[in-house]
Amino acid sequence: DPMTCGIDIGGTKIAGAVVDGEGQVVAEARVVSPATDPTAVEEAAATLVAELAAKYPVTAVGVGAAGYIASDRSTVLFAPNIAWRNEPLGADLSRLTGLPVVVENDANAAAWGEFRYGAGRDVDDQLMVTVGTGVGGGIIAGGHLLRGAHGVAAEIGHLCVVPEGRQCGCGNRGCLEQYGSGTALVRATREAVAGSSLLARDLAQRAGGDPEAITGPMITDAAKEGDRFAIEQFERLGEWLGHGIASLAAVLDPAVVVVGGGVSEAGDLLLEPLRASFARELTGRGFRPTAQVRQAVLGNQAGVIGAADLART
Ligand code: BGC
Ligand code: NA
Ligand code: ZN
Repeated sequence: DPMTCGIDIGGTKIAGAVVDGEGQVVAEARVVSPATDPTAVEEAAATLVAELAAKYPVTAVGVGAAGYIASDRSTVLFAPNIAWRNEPLGADLSRLTGLPVVVENDANAAAWGEFRYGAGRDVDDQLMVTVGTGVGGGIIAGGHLLRGAHGVAAEIGHLCVVPEGRQCGCGNRGCLEQYGSGTALVRATREAVAGSSLLARDLAQRAGGDPEAITGPMITDAAKEGDRFAIEQFERLGEWLGHGIASLAAVLDPAVVVVGGGVSEAGDLLLEPLRASFARELTGRGFRPTAQVRQAVLGNQAGVIGAADLART
């Protein structure tokens, strides 16, 4: 099989890779995402492709993008965390790079990557949840990626978990991503530091006293080093995610739930409370087989590997 290029456009970064026919990453590159400027995002992605295609004979490009992708596999209809509105991303990238381009939702691409080469390799029914800037979802049902009638199925970050809750970038209130994303994790921690909470002292110190300097990886490090406050933030996130996943499992009955995205690098700090709330809330618990919850094994490469593979099919 020929090599293809996978690109993953998220709210904070753009990652690119050359991937071979066995799903192996041959080369990688990444840049910071200029998320507020759609043209700059496209140009940055095209530059990544050009860099990689200059060194490897890639035949096509697959893009995973953090938004609602139309069934034409090219147009971004809408994105809650990037300034895309009805953007012909695939067509533009194809013009800029001279290569065939297919666009897929970023979490769908990651789900496909984990299903083909990662944590869901042994099953036909997999739910993927990506936890990063937003909360993304990808559903593999009976071995097929579920796209829905218009290409925009599996937007699980916008499941309403709190009626009239926090305002979301999608226009609604109380979406899961307002409580279970990396953005929610950082926001809660910044609030505690800004309010001079004594519990958040360790994190305040790590951030040099500046709430705005707090990052997700900083909270992960603190939790891994045993900071009680940081551990509690992951517990809260895991609880919300487990709550959402229990509802989704009631509908989808997956064999495996794969948890990926940057925040999942916290491992069991996130997964244990998530599994606990999932087990506590699943309908019919105790009287039915239930999904295993697994950490993504392709890590932050799931999106580029999945997108590159989708460019082949
Ligand atoms: C977007 C999804 C995306 C997810 C993860 C959500 O806010 O609606 O399209 O997959 O973030 O990036
Ligand atoms: Na999706
Ligand atoms: Zn929303």
